[in-house]
Amino acid sequence: MNIQSPAIIYNREVRNRLVFQPMEGCDGTHDGAVDELTRRRYLRFAQSGAGIIWFEATAVCNEGRANPRQLFLNEKTKESFRNLLDEVRKVSLEKHGFSPLIIVQLTHSGRFSKPEGTPAPIVAYRNEHWEIGKENQPYIVADDEYLSSIPQKYASAARLAEEVGFDGIDVKCCHGYLFNEMLSAFNRDGIYGGSLENRTRLYFECIDSVKNSVSDKVFVTTRFNACDCFPYPYGYGVNENNEIDLTETKIIIKNLMEKGIEFIDITLGNPYLIPHVNRPCINAPEDGKIGLERIRNVTKELNEAFPELKLVMSGLSFEGENAINYANGIIEDGVADFAGFGRMTFAYPDFYNDYLEKGSLDKSKVCLKCSKCSELMRNASVAGCPVRDTETYMPYYQKHVLKR
Ligand SMILES: Cc1cc2nc3c(=O)[nH]c(=O)nc-3n(C[C@H](O)[C@H](O)[C@H](O)COP(=O)(O)O)c2cc1C
Repeated sequence: MNIQSPAIIYNREVRNRLVFQPMEGCDGTHDGAVDELTRRRYLRFAQSGAGIIWFEATAVCNEGRANPRQLFLNEKTKESFRNLLDEVRKVSLEKHGFSPLIIVQLTHSGRFSKPEGTPAPIVAYRNEHWEIGKENQPYIVADDEYLSSIPQKYASAARLAEEVGFDGIDVKCCHGYLFNEMLSAFNRDGIYGGSLENRTRLYFECIDSVKNSVSDKVFVTTRFNACDCFPYPYGYGVNENNEIDLTETKIIIKNLMEKGIEFIDITLGNPYLIPHVNRPCINAPEDGKIGLERIRNVTKELNEAFPELKLVMSGLSFEGENAINYANGIIEDGVADFAGFGRMTFAYPDFYNDYLEKGSLDKSKVCLKCSKCSELMRNASVAGCPVRDTETYMPYYQKHVLKR
C-alpha cells in the first residue's frame, strides 16, 4: 500500500491517500465569502489529483472569526461556496476523471478570535501560560450560557455545508481554538470544566448537533490535537512531568468512534506559541526532524491503538523533495492511512502530478519549510507562498512583513 492506493471512508471511495490539509488563506471577503484569491487557491488544489481536499477553517459565527477575512459560512455567503465547489469538482473531473472528497472545517477561534482585526479573545479559562506578555489584553471567559449556544451555530453552518455540497464536515478541535482549549479547562467551574466529561461536553455536543443536522450524504469527521505539548495544567495530552501522555486522548477517540466517527486528522501543538511542534520548520528551537518524528510517533501510537480508525498524519511538508517517499513509508509502515500536506500545497500544488508523471518532485518548486506563509498570516495579510508563488504573494510579503 502507498499514497496511490484507494481507500474507503464512510462507505465512499477515496481515489488515493493524499490529503490537502486545511490551510487558511485569510483571503475571503469581509462578509466571509469566497473571494478571488480563495478561488485561485482552490482551483490550483483541484488540479492536484489529491483524493481529499480539506477546506480551511471556516467560521460558524462572526465573533469566532480568526481574522476579518476568514471564511464564514452563512446564508449571505453560501452561494460563493456552492459556486467554488462546483468549479473545483469540474476542474478535477476534467483533469483526473474523478472528484476529490471535499471536507469543510468548521471552527470557532476562541482565544484567537479577531473578527475586526484586533484581538477579541473568547477563552475557555484564565490561562497564565498564554497570558505571559499579554497581561493587559482584554478577553472574555466564555460563560456557560454562551457555550451552550454554540451547538446551534454549528447546526446552522452544517445544514448550509450540506446544501452547498460539501462531502464531509470537520468539527475542528485543534491548535488551541475553542474546543481544543476546553479540553484543558481542568480548573474551570461548572458543567464545562474539571472532569473529562465536562471538558469534552461542548465538543461532543457540537458533533452531535452537526450529525443531527445533516443527512447521511454528509459524513462528520474531526481534526484533532492529540496533545497540546504545553506544560501541565495549561495543555491537554501531557502529564504532570510534562511528557506527552495520550491516556485521555484515547478515551476521547473511543468516544468519537462511538459517535460514528471513523476518520480523524491527527495534529498536535499550537501554531502561535510553539509553531515548530505544529509544523516542523527551519530556524526553529529544535531540528525539524525531531518535530516530524514527534508527530509520527503520536500518530502511530493512535493508529496502533485503533486499527479500525482511518488516520491522517500531518506535517509532511518538512520532507520537501522526499515527501512522497516519506508518505509512502508511513502508509506502508502502518503509521497512518493518509498523508496530509499543508505548506506544500501553497508552494507546489502540482507535486503529486509531477511524482506520477516524472517519478520525482521538482527541487526548485518544493516547500522550503520556511513558514513565510504563516508569517504572512500573522501579519494580517492574505497567506500563500511568497517564495514559490512569487508573483502573487511576494508583494504581500514585502508590504506586510518586510516593510515592518
Ligand atoms: C498559513 C497556514 C494556514 C493554516 N491554516 C489551517 C487551518 O485553516 N486549519 C487547520 O487545521 N490547520 C491549518 N494550518 C496547519 C496545517 O494544516 C498543517 O497542519 C501544518 O502546516 C503542518 O503541515 P505541513 O508541514 O505539511 O505544512 C495552517 C498552516 C499554515 C502554515
